[in-house]
Amino acid sequence: MTLQTVKKQPSKKKTATKKPTKQRVAATPVNNTKPKLYASLVVQLLSLLKDEHDFIANAANFSALLFNSLPNVNWAGFYFLRDDELVLGPFQGNPACVRIPLGKGVCGVAAQQCETIIVPNVHEFPGHIACDVASNSEIVVPLFDGERILGVLDLDSPNIGRFDDQDAEGLNELVTVFVAHEEGLE
Ligand code: SME
Repeated sequence: MTLQTVKKQPSKKKTATKKPTKQRVAATPVNNTKPKLYASLVVQLLSLLKDEHDFIANAANFSALLFNSLPNVNWAGFYFLRDDELVLGPFQGNPACVRIPLGKGVCGVAAQQCETIIVPNVHEFPGHIACDVASNSEIVVPLFDGERILGVLDLDSPNIGRFDDQDAEGLNELVTVFVAHEEGLE
């Protein structure tokens, strides 16, 4: 992490006797690459999950971690598979649609195809379900228990093209950590 140094402004008064010292400001994450950010999120997620066995509480904290740590994200949360539809789980952001049939919307397609979907522009995705008019791009990552799909993690952004392969990789690692923790509790 790079520390920025700032020069202290020269005092207008000549009476100051103390020699101005270089001041260090709070660390600013400049040049913090996505892989570094995701690596740090894995550490933070493990710390949040440690010793806690409540699935809903853990999913809620996971979504809050993502929402507050990833830049330009206006919605982050879960949909879990219940019978043949996805049902809204813990999330951060505006209220969202509660039920999504498999194969519908980005979430339903990701769950049905069991694959991560990156949508650079949601307005060009056929069948996209608009829960928040502010959303312009989206990434949906499936959660697996072995071969069985449990649900999806969904992130929205107001920025076109916000999510890329590095986000997909980082988020897949995070959901793997999350599911492994929850499975370890069973
Ligand atoms: N846009 C999603 C619906 C969920 S919201 O974005 C929270 C979709 O098309 O499946």
